[in-house]
Order: sequence, then structure tokens, then C-alpha cells
Amino acid sequence: MPKKIILDCDPGHDDAIAILLAHGSAEIELLAVTTVVGNQTLEKVTHNALAVARIAGITDVPFAAGCSRPLVREIQTAPAIHGESGLDGPVLPEPTLSLDPRHAVDLIIDIIMAHEPGTVTLVPTAGLTNIAMAARKEPRIVERVKEVVLMGGGYHVGNWSAVAEFNIIIDPEAAHIVFNEKWPVVMVGLDLTHQALATLAVAGQIAAVGTAPARFVGELLEYFGESYRDVQGFDFPPVHDPCAVAYVIDPSIVTTQKVPVDIELNGTLTLGMTVADFRSPAPADCTTSVAVDLDHERFWNLITDALVRIGDVES
Ligand code: BDR
Ligand code: CA
Repeated sequence: MPKKIILDCDPGHDDAIAILLAHGSAEIELLAVTTVVGNQTLEKVTHNALAVARIAGITDVPFAAGCSRPLVREIQTAPAIHGESGLDGPVLPEPTLSLDPRHAVDLIIDIIMAHEPGTVTLVPTAGLTNIAMAARKEPRIVERVKEVVLMGGGYHVGNWSAVAEFNIIIDPEAAHIVFNEKWPVVMVGLDLTHQALATLAVAGQIAAVGTAPARFVGELLEYFGESYRDVQGFDFPPVHDPCAVAYVIDPSIVTTQKVPVDIELNGTLTLGMTVADFRSPAPADCTTSVAVDLDHERFWNLITDALVRIGDVES
């Protein structure tokens, strides 16, 4: 049985690859793609998501736009990493898919309430505004969701401050809600995603697929690689968001550890830190785990296989 997911994202180079991975994997049933302000404004990331849908040949999945600003804080976007469009680098086609008329928060709630409890996994790869709003608007979703597998945070490093990661710090109050609800949360944070480097060998493996969507991924990685080299001093870009999808596809690709995690809301130096308590043993009622180790080869094979499965889409 394919695993049913809702991908909540802010494309974003790595979000775009996450959409392609989810769409191209037989193990996943993509129930919806929802967007939220993050790497760029809501308008831009929504446009990008629809353009990616066209590149991937997605025609039968609802796409909906969600929150255009965080719960409490001012908007922070990431043009230094993702460019002014949020998806700089490749030339994007005009979207052909129309947006679902519902607000993303309502679409998320509708889908979860319409499915059997324990069958829908939420995969947020952006700020957690939509997910927190959904939990507040319809609290019954919390016990119905199978798990929340999110890209965000990090227990050793930050990337937007010394200790905070972008998806958490842009809406720390939303993250606080999501991490403190009783649903299982798997934090696929920087500790894990910094292992998902798109090396030269990876770029070659993807280029060898030889299709238009694979060329698109190659162009994304080229731009992302330059940003990460210039702004964060990486030799190769860490491709964060698909790691969360990969974990859903095959949890054996990622090792995890059950650890209580909470979000710092008051620190002057530590706002948005995902504070992980590694003291042993973890409490019996602990609902959070953190991703620790990635099988790099099998991860990139999943992405390559998804591109092969998607094939040469005409866009
Ligand atoms: C996260 O921030 C965004 O810029 C990326 O898309 C990813 O979701 C990494 O910190
Ligand atoms: Ca993202």
C-alpha cells in the first residue's frame, strides 16, 4: 500500500526536488501539495510549485496556497539561497494546473478528516505556519495523522543563526505548536540533511537519466550549489527537503532516535533552536524523534529512480 502524504512546502530548489521524488515514487500517494510563505513570498512559491507540477507532469493532485505570513513574526525569506524568484536558475514553464480554491489549511483538514485515522502523513518542508493553523482550527486532526515528518531544525547546528534552522526560525511559534502536539513528529534536521550532499557523482547520476525533469533537477542543483558555496561555504549543496520524503518512502535509509525536542521562544541568542534532550532513557511518552544518519547512496538512488519513473514529460 503506498503511503499517503500531504507535502507542505515553499519551493525552493530542494522543495522542488521533494515534489519530484514524491510524485515519482511508487511507495508514495501524493494527496496534495500545499504552499506557505518561506523561501519567498506565498505568491512566488505557489507559482513555483505549479510550475514544478507542469515539469513533473502532475495533473491530478490538488495544489493549494496557504498562509502568507508567519503567526507572530515578520516575514523572512531566503533570496541569498534561492534567488529573487525562490527558484532561480532553470527557466520555468508557465503553470497549466489551476490552484485548488480552498485555503491550504482547509485542504489539509479536509483530507485528513476524509481518510481513515492513522493513514495520512504530513510532510512539511517549510515553516510550520499551515500545519500549526490546521492543528488549531481542527484539533481532531492531531490524533488522526499518522505522523509528521518534517524538514527543519537541527540538534547540533543552525543555518539561520548559530543554533536555529530556517524553517523553524521563520515561524518559531508555529513550530512550538507542532512539536508540542501529541502526534508523532520526526525531525529531519540539518544533522541529517547536511549528509545529503549533491556531489559531482550525484550530478552525473542524475544527468545520465537524460530526461527533461532530470535536466531540471541538474539546473536546480547547479544554482543551489553556487548559493551554498558562496553563502554557507559548502563544497556541495545539502539537499534538505527530499530527505523527509525519502524517510517516508523507506525509513531504513535514515536512522532516528527518540528524543524530546522543544522550541526555544524566549532566548535572545537561541530563538528558534530545536532543543533536543539526549539524556537517556527518553521518557515513555516522548512523541518526537530526530534523524541521525543517512544512507547517502540509497537516498540518491531513490531520487534517480523517481526521475526514471517520471520519464520524459513534455512541458
Ligand atoms: C530549509 O530552508 C529552506 O531554505 C529549504 O528549502 C529547506 O526547507 C533548510 O534550512
Ligand atoms: Ca523548503
